[in-house]
Amino acid sequence: MSDSLPLSRRHFLAGSAASGIAGTALATQSTDASPQLPAARPTFISTWRFGAPANELALKTYQEQGSMLDAIEKGIGLVEADVSNASVGIGGIPNAEGVVQVDACIMSGPDHDAGSVAGVEDILHPISVARKVMEETRHVMLVGDGAKSFALDQGYSTTPLLTDSQKTKWEKWKEKQSVPEIDEQNHDTIAMIGVDSEGNVFGGCSTSGWGYKVPGRVGDSPIIGSGLYVDNEVGGAGATGIGENVMRYCASFMIVEAMRQGLSPQEACEATIERIVRKDSKNAEELAINFIAVNRDGEIGAAGTSKGFQYSVTTAQGTRVDNAKALTDAEIIEGGNR
Ligand code: GLY
Repeated sequence: MSDSLPLSRRHFLAGSAASGIAGTALATQSTDASPQLPAARPTFISTWRFGAPANELALKTYQEQGSMLDAIEKGIGLVEADVSNASVGIGGIPNAEGVVQVDACIMSGPDHDAGSVAGVEDILHPISVARKVMEETRHVMLVGDGAKSFALDQGYSTTPLLTDSQKTKWEKWKEKQSVPEIDEQNHDTIAMIGVDSEGNVFGGCSTSGWGYKVPGRVGDSPIIGSGLYVDNEVGGAGATGIGENVMRYCASFMIVEAMRQGLSPQEACEATIERIVRKDSKNAEELAINFIAVNRDGEIGAAGTSKGFQYSVTTAQGTRVDNAKALTDAEIIEGGNR
């Protein structure tokens, strides 16, 4: 079962992971930008601070029901159902026509299976539909109206995803039609990777994407290998940030392959960012690409080019929310070769 995690308990949430889900006060260790947590299994790592309650629900689900796919689906489902989250599920920022279009994917390491949906409207839990695509069809990805029809066939009902508050903001935006600022509020994604007590790797990802995007735009999140990738022999990686800059590099796949070559999850995240920044015409800050990774042993890593990118990690000993290592142009371009 789980290995010990000899990190000071002051870094963790008060109480055990199973003691509470939403609303628990987080004890954030925010200065250590280079995560070197000892490995533990099971482990759940996810993007952003809002990943903490999602991780905790995932761990609780795994502990009580023994299914990692249920764990990932329920954990991500918690964020999808949060109306206050402006970039995942209900309450998400709509596209340029005022319609919320959501994307999600899920992967199962032991059988290297995957399911994905993109550009879906009026469906509260795209992560659940992605799982149905994986388990109930011979396909990997369904999009748009076809994905919605499939969801309805599978028994899901429609839910309006555009909240009054997002509708009001969209109406204001429409008057100006200015290109929206890409920031934490406008551009978050929940990516979650879980490693079970035996070292099997699972993951999921869900987003409403870039606020006021061109209708039909799909980012990295539902693209296997871009917003998420797991390989049961190695580990998994997930992304948040500007999807266009992740998907041009199949970045999550690149991180997993770097781990396969022997890099730690932290080194693999950093090496992938460095490779992208060195090659791309955009600078690190413009790229806005942020990653989490975990290997089969439960060792974790996280790095990004966005200032303030946080990630959450949960083991049987508690939850930690931390600042990921931030990589700047100066460090990458002038910092020598990896
Ligand atoms: N990373 C989410 C998106 O670009 O849609």
